[in-house]
Amino acid sequence: MAEDGAEWWSEETVAVVTGASRGIGLEVCRQLADKGLTVVMTARKPQERLSEPAQLFLQEAAEAGKKKIIFHTLDITQQQSVMDFVDWLKQHVGFVDILVNNAGVNNSAIDWGAVESDDNDKRAVMGHLVWANGTSDRYKSARGCLETNFYGTKRLTKALLPLLRPSSHKPRIVNVSSRYGLLWPLRDEELRKQLCHTVNLTEEKIDQVLDMFLEDVKSEKGMDRWPSNLPTYSISKISLNAYTRLLALQLHDKACVNSVHPGYVMTDMNFGIGDISPAEGAAYLVRVALLPPGGPSGHNFLESKDVGF
Ligand SMILES: NC(=O)c1ccc[n+]([C@@H]2O[C@H](COP(=O)([O-])OP(=O)(O)OC[C@H]3O[C@@H](n4cnc5c(N)ncnc54)[C@H](OP(=O)(O)O)[C@@H]3O)[C@@H](O)[C@H]2O)c1
Repeated sequence: MAEDGAEWWSEETVAVVTGASRGIGLEVCRQLADKGLTVVMTARKPQERLSEPAQLFLQEAAEAGKKKIIFHTLDITQQQSVMDFVDWLKQHVGFVDILVNNAGVNNSAIDWGAVESDDNDKRAVMGHLVWANGTSDRYKSARGCLETNFYGTKRLTKALLPLLRPSSHKPRIVNVSSRYGLLWPLRDEELRKQLCHTVNLTEEKIDQVLDMFLEDVKSEKGMDRWPSNLPTYSISKISLNAYTRLLALQLHDKACVNSVHPGYVMTDMNFGIGDISPAEGAAYLVRVALLPPGGPSGHNFLESKDVGF
């Protein structure tokens, strides 16, 4: 077992990162590659349609002869894409030591019409986030967000479980969550209790909560029990956090599973607004991915603070 602070990883350590076409995911790949791990960088777009920095990253890696950075397409919402990826990984790489579930969507827009023209306060701009217009669009948008942030993440994670390589330092799963995933903004006490008691938690219970949420969005009733701020995004990350705790329990001596909020990061998801750069946000995720052996599992970090759920 590696000593505290010692590097337990090597170029044989395989890290899979989702949603790495841009933003935080790309920076996670860059930092893991800089630390010498083998990085399987994935994105739903083909390589030639990735962001310019992502293409540059892959191009420079290829020019430097770095064979330890490998790209593969992966759309976590598509069962076939997940199956194709896992088959390819099995054949060409064999196993996984670290999975960073970074891919995510917010599905909100800024109502620029409501923003005062002289409003220079970036946070005030974010106060004008709007959901889709109309019930049917809202429902579609809510389903899409849950399909990516929760069901897609769970789909890929389950498909990769058989490839997690047993080791003394244990494989790690890092679920990229959000401060919006904390339980307290959930306004219904019963729902909060249902998601909070890990021992009684099941996948079915999480699904039931999500079905209930979608029904409320559809009927436009009962929305007062859900978080008032970014309800869909929030509930997607609340359920992801519940899954983190459930999976950590299920895999207790086989893998470490943790949730991490990367900070308020200047990425496309936030219309370029935020407190820190994508590289700074990525560093919080990489920190948890590379914690010394014997570290926590089933925990939730806001940046580097272990805060509970
Ligand atoms: N930025 C923040 O302040 C902040 C705060 C808390 C949590 N987070 C979380 O951090 C993660 C990364 O977000 P970001 O800020 O870097 O946002 P971003 O720049 O919008 O990047 C999101 C990434 O997810 C990918 N993606 C979306 N749907 C996908 C799918 N179905 N399959 C595979 N990839 C998919 C996107 O790919 P495309 O290029 O193909 O769209 C993109 O690469 C998300 O989980 C987000 O919720 C961000």
